[in-house]
Amino acid sequence: MKKERDYILGTHEAELNRLKLQHQIWRPHVLAAWQKAGITIGSAVLDVGAGPGYATFDLQDIVGRSGKVISVERSKKFVDHLLQHADKSQTNVEAYELDLMEDEIPTKNLDFAWCRWVACFVHSPKLLVQKIANCLKSKGRVIFHEYVHYESWQLLPPNKHQKQFINEVIKSWRAQGGEPNIAAFLPEILHQHNFDIVSTKPLVFNCTPNDYFWQWPESFIEINLIRQVELGGVSQQWAEEVLESFRKAKSNPFSMQVTPMVLEIIAEKQ
Ligand SMILES: C[S@@+](CC[C@H](N)C(=O)[O-])C[C@H]1O[C@@H](n2cnc3c(N)ncnc32)[C@H](O)[C@@H]1O
Repeated sequence: MKKERDYILGTHEAELNRLKLQHQIWRPHVLAAWQKAGITIGSAVLDVGAGPGYATFDLQDIVGRSGKVISVERSKKFVDHLLQHADKSQTNVEAYELDLMEDEIPTKNLDFAWCRWVACFVHSPKLLVQKIANCLKSKGRVIFHEYVHYESWQLLPPNKHQKQFINEVIKSWRAQGGEPNIAAFLPEILHQHNFDIVSTKPLVFNCTPNDYFWQWPESFIEINLIRQVELGGVSQQWAEEVLESFRKAKSNPFSMQVTPMVLEIIAEKQ
């Protein structure tokens, strides 16, 4: 039996559920990006680093029986979840358990590729873009949602623990060979791989404790603190202090959170 291959954020049950919540919160912006890029009924779409499949399921509905979704992901647990929960009445999904840095993606001539919060974790974003390019037909489009300025995430009024938390997250991703602010480099990498940039758009939100969006950074802090303690990068005491400070901020009705800035990039293969 193959061993589970997890990564810096983990592939455990709590993270799987966090990815579900995250997709629900971001869904309107994702659907808007796909529509803008042109994904429609009959499209053939690659879901790059698909996780447990939440975007795949939406893509499956959009492209319908005449389209197809090819999902690639390294975690066995996530691929199993994706296949188990995909709409069985449609036969338009294929999923491959593979490592984007080591394996070939066994498909080509696709119309679109969707890549969200994956480029920030790989050691070679150039190789990633090359592999995506190989899967697309000429005039095929890739849509990225990746962080461009992670440090823009702010709890207001400013909070020292939240700033420390951001620094720890950035440090841990870079220590594993990733780059949180990868979207700052993607336009140039895309150009080097014969893509034209169709559009770019920063996505940043300001939310209060009563907003649905608040749960996105909140769930990340709660789950990632436990993960960071497990990985040994921070102490249990520090994690408890951060959590306590964050909970206090949440009980202040005047608190706000500016979310870490994501850059939407739509690019077309020449
Ligand atoms: C933050 S999750 C995002 C999942 C999904 N794209 C989404 O937006 O819900 C990052 C995903 O990238 C996958 N991943 C990271 N490095 C990978 C690699 N080298 N090859 C394949 N998948 C990888 C992880 O297993 C994880 O499922």
